[in-house]
Amino acid sequence: VVALEALDRIESEGAYANLVLRRLLTDSGLDERDRAFVTELVYGTTRMRRACDFLVDRFLSHPPSLLMRNALRLGAYQLAFAGVPAHAAVGETVAATPRPARGLVNAVLRKVATAQGGNPENAASPGWPDDATRLSVPDWVLERLAADLGRDRALAALAAMNEPGAVTVRTDGYVQDAASQLVVDAVGVEPGDRVLDVAAAPGGKATAMADVGGARVIAADVNPRRLGLVRSNARRLGLSDQLTLVGADGLHPPWRPASFDRVLLDAPCSGLGTLHSRADLRWRVEPAAVDRLAALQRTLAGAAAPSVRPGGLLVYSVCTLTAAESLGVDDHLAVEHPELVPLDPPGEPWEPWGRGAILLPQTAGSDGMCLFRYRRTV
Ligand SMILES: C[S@@+](CC[C@H](N)C(=O)[O-])C[C@H]1O[C@@H](n2cnc3c(N)ncnc32)[C@H](O)[C@@H]1O
Repeated sequence: VVALEALDRIESEGAYANLVLRRLLTDSGLDERDRAFVTELVYGTTRMRRACDFLVDRFLSHPPSLLMRNALRLGAYQLAFAGVPAHAAVGETVAATPRPARGLVNAVLRKVATAQGGNPENAASPGWPDDATRLSVPDWVLERLAADLGRDRALAALAAMNEPGAVTVRTDGYVQDAASQLVVDAVGVEPGDRVLDVAAAPGGKATAMADVGGARVIAADVNPRRLGLVRSNARRLGLSDQLTLVGADGLHPPWRPASFDRVLLDAPCSGLGTLHSRADLRWRVEPAAVDRLAALQRTLAGAAAPSVRPGGLLVYSVCTLTAAESLGVDDHLAVEHPELVPLDPPGEPWEPWGRGAILLPQTAGSDGMCLFRYRRTV
């Protein structure tokens, strides 16, 4: 019932999956185990929406109401992807469905279960019409990543991001994806460094960098509400003294040029490397967003370059996998900022990517990430 309610709000109100779920779970009184199961069902059904629709649409003669649609998706997800036994998947879903819709939901889910022959393995090949349906992504996402990464790597990346993301916790208790921790490692903050984090909220990387003894970190962000998240994270981790918060637009830097040893621009991006942890993102990103964000990233990177002192380091990172938002930004810097000399890319699990590095989600089960490091020569 909680899972269905969450799906309903996500689909009908356009609510964010994580926010809806957190609220509903808090009010639900469910124990830890049931919460984890509901979370997996809601995120999984949201991610695999397109594939689930294909599985049920074979047995529908009319488009269902949104309510029926969500129940059918939830049931199909359990049958095909969550390994829930057929009688439980169908029975529980029907029981959670409002009465008028039960007959149809029951009939269709039974057909899905029968087509699967009681064998979840069969869900792997129900005769998918194409890879985008099988992997449950919009066509443009697959096409764009296939063009940028090569088809095999794109398919493997999307398949990896259909699994729930691994939860990694830092030694200070902060939950941060492994790829983000590797970006922090690549910045390589040393004691005494003056560090600027141009786009810092919610503060995952900024707090990790501020944890290096004797380093002073300026955490900037254009969004005041999000900057508040950096403040509360810094307080909770006892890092308020090492971390200075600045509300600032990276396009118009208010700080003195050449005043930082290390500058990190972890830029706003399409997020296509985080499709596992942000279950509804694939349905939200618009195709035009990639090129719009790439233009913003080029300008932000160009504006960040003068903040680095001669001899200092600029690090550019994005949690996406498109060429425009990674190689395209580097091309721009190569032309406009010849004073920035690329450093050797970090080693495994990173792979070389132009003058920088890429971390594919299938390599380590982390977010997908691109990274470029430069030393300012003059
Ligand atoms: C990928 S997130 C940063 C994540 C953060 N570095 C971390 O590790 O927790 C990108 C951030 O860029 C901020 N942003 C977007 N446009 C900006 C601009 N023009 N100047 C500064 N920050 C900006 C957004 O508010 C968002 O918080």
